[in-house]
Parts: sequence; structure tokens; C-alpha cells
Amino acid sequence: MEPRLDLPLRPRRNRRSASIRDIIAETSLAAQDLVMPLFVMEGSGKHQAIQSMPGIFRTSLDQALRQVEQLQRLGVRSIALFPYIAPELRDGLGSEALNRQGLSPRVIKAIKKRFPAMVVFSDVALDPFNSDGHDGIVRRGQVVNDETVAVLAQMAVLQAEAGADYVAPSDMMDGRVAAIRKALDEAGFTHTGIMSYAAKYASSFYGPFRDALDSSPKAGDKKTYQMDPRNLREALREAALDEAEGADMLMVKPALAYLDVIAAVRQHTTLPVAAYNVSGEYSMIKAAAKAGYLDHDKAMAESLMAIRRAGAGIIFTYFAKEMAELLKKR
Ligand code: PBG
Repeated sequence: MEPRLDLPLRPRRNRRSASIRDIIAETSLAAQDLVMPLFVMEGSGKHQAIQSMPGIFRTSLDQALRQVEQLQRLGVRSIALFPYIAPELRDGLGSEALNRQGLSPRVIKAIKKRFPAMVVFSDVALDPFNSDGHDGIVRRGQVVNDETVAVLAQMAVLQAEAGADYVAPSDMMDGRVAAIRKALDEAGFTHTGIMSYAAKYASSFYGPFRDALDSSPKAGDKKTYQMDPRNLREALREAALDEAEGADMLMVKPALAYLDVIAAVRQHTTLPVAAYNVSGEYSMIKAAAKAGYLDHDKAMAESLMAIRRAGAGIIFTYFAKEMAELLKKR
């Protein structure tokens, strides 16, 4: 006789088959939840590998357009653009960020022209343009807030003019969402949204991204503006401020080490919540899979699902294309 427990409540009944598991699933993941970041550079036919981010490239506009076409075919509806600015165009004020004919405005315009339905998030921060590698202007060793905010607001207007659907301030200066909203409205861009990097932590997981843009700070770190990883309540304060200042979406960044922050922000706002599955999180899975330590596709799908479960509706991830391909196969 097989032993039988007197056990009316058996959670395993709901896991008996793949179909049952599918119908009771609490979380879903689709291509439309994913935003693909793209690194763009000047020139044509350029397709430069980023050593610390296997599978990710810095590309010229023509190649970027091809990537966007593939993404669209896979059902990915949005991209986030990050410009690689040539070293000789960088200065202490990040002046190139205000060039109407600069790389970002041209790329935004060209992508929106060819793919009007693709949602474009454009980055608002000075680090790709600033010879100091900081997100704001440095004066006497300090990243100055209010002077930076004035530049960011103008930068956002240029991106809106070029056709960005959302400007995405990733700089963490105080008051920038309000200043950007005001500048956009005054320039007639009341329809352009603001996706605020509301709770962005001073994280070691940004390393590979800084390789991609060659944007590491030349001196010091970003701890006077990005958040301390020890803090959660402070993230709620940042989120509440950005919401009050007029943000249309709030982001938590990074994602995987900050799932509790995503969950808390989700509970405290009615706005859409995004999370950024950052470069270091991407590269860790690539490296471990390459070493044979774990299954690439399963680790990718599981971590993206975990970010959704925590409460992010939208995920910025370098896996967007590969994940969309995998979803298509299933
Ligand atoms: C800077 C910026 C960073 C990322 C996006 N925008 C890095 C930083 O703060 O130094 C990181 C994204 C990633 O690691 O994937 N404005």
C-alpha cells in the first residue's frame, strides 16, 4: 500500500500540467512590454562590437534602421536611444547636447520618419557629451544642479522637435522633470511625454554601458546625484516628486537587485512603472551562459518575468530582441 496523507489542500494540483500552469499564471511577458536600448554613432556601415556586452553593437544610423525594422517585425514597439559622441565633440559644458543638427536629433528624426509607429525614448543627460563623464555640469569639482537643469530642459525640447515620443531624463538632478515639462509646454510640445528615471541608484551594474559610450566619470563617482543602494523610502520620495512635477512614467534602475523598489513604487503610484534591466545584468547572464554555468534563454526569460512580477509594466532590456525571438518560437 502506498502511504496516503490526510491532506485536502494540495497546491501541487495546480501545477500538474503545462496547460494548468499556463491558465493559473499570475504574470505574463510579451514583446510589447520590452524596450530595446540602441547605441548610435556617426558614419555609415558602422557596426562596432562592445566587448563587455556580447551581442550588442554601437551602430551608425543605417544599421540602426535595420535593427529597428527587425524589432518591429518581432513585435517590439519601442526603443531607447543613446548616442556615442566623438571625443573631440565633448566639452565641460556638454555643448554638443544642444546642437540641433547633432547625432541624437538626426537619428530620432530618421527613425520616426521610417517607422512612425515605433515609440522612441530619447535620453536626457549630459554624460555622453561631457568631457568630465558626469550627467551634469561640473564646477569646482561639484556637479551643479540648477545650471544643468536649464541645459537638460533645452536638450529635451530639441529631442521633442526631432519627434521623440518620450524624453527620458536619466540624470537625477533635482527639479528637472518640472523644468522639462515647462520648457516642452512653452515650446508647444504638450504631447511629448516624460519618462523619468525616478529612482536611479549609484550602481556598479552600469559598467558595460559606460564602456559602450566611453562615458565613465573622469573623476569621482555619481553618488551626489544617483541614489544610495541602501535606501528604499528615498525612492518613494523621488517617485512622488517626479510624479508631482509632471512625469508620465516612472522608472526604477537597475532592476534585478532592486525588485523590492519596483514593487514599492508600483504600490505608491498610478503611473506606468518601468524598470531598466541594465548592462551589467545583461552581461552577467551572457558571461555565465558562455562559461556553461547556466542556460541562457531560461535565465533571460526568468529574470525578465521576475521584473514583471515585481510590478514593472515596461522593461528596458538589451535582451528585448532575443526575448521577442524566443516568445515567437514558443
Ligand atoms: C547615464 C546613464 C547610465 C545608464 C543609462 N543612462 C549610466 C550611468 O549612470 O553612468 C546605464 C544603463 C545601463 O547600464 O545599461 N545617464
